[in-house]
Amino acid sequence: MRAYWYDNQAGDQRLPHDSGRSVDPQYLSNLGVLYYHLSDEEDVNKLASERSYKNRDVITVSPEKMGDIYEEKVKSFFHEHLHEDEEIRYIRDGAGFFDVRSEGDEWVRIFLEKDDLIILPAGIYHRFTTDNNNYIQAMRLFKEEPKWTPLNRGPEVDVNPFRKEYLSTRSPVASQ
Ligand code: LAC
Ligand code: NI
Repeated sequence: MRAYWYDNQAGDQRLPHDSGRSVDPQYLSNLGVLYYHLSDEEDVNKLASERSYKNRDVITVSPEKMGDIYEEKVKSFFHEHLHEDEEIRYIRDGAGFFDVRSEGDEWVRIFLEKDDLIILPAGIYHRFTTDNNNYIQAMRLFKEEPKWTPLNRGPEVDVNPFRKEYLSTRSPVASQ
């Protein structure tokens, strides 16, 4: 895992877009984003039971697996959105980028690879992309029913109760 401020430069979303300014895990945790490096799947089972993630599946995002819809899918994952539940991803192979909005509405880019596990809180605006290798395999964990529905950013979603709840639970943090 490596987190840094997105450079906001034009160019393919799959490029690193590394501004050279890093972001530490404490800052991520202030945003409500939790990160773990777990090389033993037993530790994942433990975390899942502690946090009541009862179900899981594994998704592979690659042109080989998805065929013609790959490019379209990758673009859709990159639309800024939120969910009304946590988004939990445990990377099993390959790599990808999760971008999350900071409290100042800047993008923080999080590079994840094998054995990285990330938990995004309900209500945080985010987006995802594969990197230049166009391959990631991730375990998706969830509580009851999967709630994958992305709610794209806009005036209505800005006042969604889960968005408001997320904002209300963020303590003010010093900007970096
Ligand atoms: C998801 C990623 C794309 O919602 O954020 O599955
Ligand atoms: Ni999402």
